[in-house]
Amino acid sequence: MEKNHFFTQIFLTLMAVSPMIACNDNAAENNDANPDSASVAKASVTQAEYGKIGDAIVTQYTITNEKGMIVKLINYGATVTDIITLDKNQSRGNVVLGFDSLAGYLQPGNPYFGSIVGRYGNRIANGRFTLDGQTYTLARNNNGQSLHGGIKGFDKVLWNGEPVGDNAVKFTYLSKDGEEGYPGNLNVSVTYTLTNDNELKIEYSATTDKATPVNLTNHAYFNLSAGADSTILGHELMLKADSFTEVNNVLIPTGKNPPVAGTPMDFTTAKPIGRDIAQVPGGYDHNWVLRRDGNGLELIATLYHPGSGRYMEVFTTEPGVQFYSGNFLDGRLKHTRDGQKYVKHAGLCLETQHFPDSPNHPHFPNTILRPGETYTQTTVYKFSTK
Ligand code: GLA
Repeated sequence: MEKNHFFTQIFLTLMAVSPMIACNDNAAENNDANPDSASVAKASVTQAEYGKIGDAIVTQYTITNEKGMIVKLINYGATVTDIITLDKNQSRGNVVLGFDSLAGYLQPGNPYFGSIVGRYGNRIANGRFTLDGQTYTLARNNNGQSLHGGIKGFDKVLWNGEPVGDNAVKFTYLSKDGEEGYPGNLNVSVTYTLTNDNELKIEYSATTDKATPVNLTNHAYFNLSAGADSTILGHELMLKADSFTEVNNVLIPTGKNPPVAGTPMDFTTAKPIGRDIAQVPGGYDHNWVLRRDGNGLELIATLYHPGSGRYMEVFTTEPGVQFYSGNFLDGRLKHTRDGQKYVKHAGLCLETQHFPDSPNHPHFPNTILRPGETYTQTTVYKFSTK
């Protein structure tokens, strides 16, 4: 009898671990997260050393929800490294472009994979603006313009990270007065929460001791095929926007917001990204002016990958979204996940934001944060299949 009991125990143990063995290494890290398992997992946040920059430890946080969806984050750049979801056949895959190690994120030319960009996401013309009668000059890093906060933006700094409860991680960073040319000490916090409805919610807040422009967003590159398709040209995108901010040859807004109707910029009804892209010189890399009902969290974009059935909805409090179709990816990045070649259009970004170069366009929605005020923005990426 004792012996039978022993074999029963072994059998049950093997049954419990076998789905984990069958899954990829992401699953092996967290048996609870195994979506094939009949039992409902408990939500959790774990952390582990990811690498080092000098003496400083870079930490990776893994949030798992009850459905087995997984989001991984590192405190370098407050970066999303992994978003692992199920497809319509219950098979899991990583829906953001990423690297296999810290070396990937640190390599020159990392095009902001998954990171938080700031202090001012997107471009400020000639790296210059005037505020309350004073002209400020910023670090210029993109054809004479300042892009995504300058040479060492928020994507290239170490944030403080801490788990919050069993489903969130909060990152904080103090951007000092004068950093990259920006005025004021800016206290920034970004909290990533993974809900049991498969939503990745990103909540931003910031306060300052001097008036300063602030425009924060996340720069994740999505490819809902999880590596099956080398580009996102077959993804179907809907953008709730009737106009966009027209740009010049260095991607600085001209100040005009022409209508999208009858142009390749029209995504008011979902269409494959590849349908009209050839008519847009360089590909899509523009800010769409969102059609909003108010200032709350509203659905502004959907993205669908027919092959996998993966569907993503984007909700935001922001007035604009930069849809960037990965035009500058050229297959040369090193340390890519599973050695994938991230070719042109391998991933796309939906960067919810205020409009580019707003400090130089008084008729654009305000991006100046003043002492005593709190900057906030919330964006949700919700994953499902259909
Ligand atoms: C943003 C910009 C693009 C490009 C990428 C990073 O999306 O709008 O022009 O700079 O970031 O490569």
